Amino acid sequence: MNSTYQAPRRLIKTADEIEKMRVAGRLAAEILDLIKAHIKAGVSTLELDQICYNHIVNVQQAIPACLGYGAAPGRPAFQHSICTSVNHVVCHGIPSESKLLKNGDILNIDVTVIKDGYHGDTNMMYIVGEGSVLANRICKVAQEAMYRGMEVVKPGNTIGDIGHAIQKYVESERFSVVREYCGHGIGTVFHDDPQVLHYGQPKTGMVLEEGMTFTIEPMVNAGVWQTRLLGDKWTVVTKDHKLSAQYEHTILVTANGLEVLTARPEEDLSRFTA
Ligand code: MF3
Ligand code: CO
Ligand code: CO
Repeated sequence: MNSTYQAPRRLIKTADEIEKMRVAGRLAAEILDLIKAHIKAGVSTLELDQICYNHIVNVQQAIPACLGYGAAPGRPAFQHSICTSVNHVVCHGIPSESKLLKNGDILNIDVTVIKDGYHGDTNMMYIVGEGSVLANRICKVAQEAMYRGMEVVKPGNTIGDIGHAIQKYVESERFSVVREYCGHGIGTVFHDDPQVLHYGQPKTGMVLEEGMTFTIEPMVNAGVWQTRLLGDKWTVVTKDHKLSAQYEHTILVTANGLEVLTARPEEDLSRFTA
């Protein structure tokens, strides 16, 4: 049985589309950079959301993709421009006036912008003031998990190779990988095929080809991998209420490796080749 398959041709971007993805990716990365100066004890996650909204709409003249996104039967659309996920919140945390950051919190900000019809999607962790040893370690491990997945991106490798590299690394650190949420193809569609699972088996799933764009966004838990959805139908928390951390980049598969479309200026990406 052949457990790999070829992607539909529509997932391969043209040179024009890739140029637009680069622009959108750069704008998304810029938001994570600029919000850093505002993250301190006492600030509310709603204030952070408002700063991002203003910059995306007024300065970048782009569209916050999360605002108004994702209405479904029994679930309202998301009403904010960023997700703010603090401590045991795994993802999709809703910015709120009453959620004030405090010293030692770990915060993930996830932002997606649409520019000229194309999406750029990225997230990262911030530590408020001084974090515990565990807080610092889980953030580092989540970032390294994303990088381990990125390292195996090149034509001929598979989506399963990415998941396997991430899972192997995270479990070797005695943390766990969230199963219910995954990376995704991205372009004019926010959440497109393929699903990029952050666990799995080598040499399985879709074969990577030059010109594909997708996200890698592992969520790493300090305890069990299981999650629970809160009554607001968005906020995802760890089942055991232990810490969770996540990093996300939007990447382009190139001839020999990948290009990070949401790279930030200060980020060391020297281990990756395009
Ligand atoms: N940016 C998230 C992702 O990485 C999706 C957030 S959807 C929202 O795919 F509606 F919660 F904002
Ligand atoms: Co995202
Ligand atoms: Co994403």
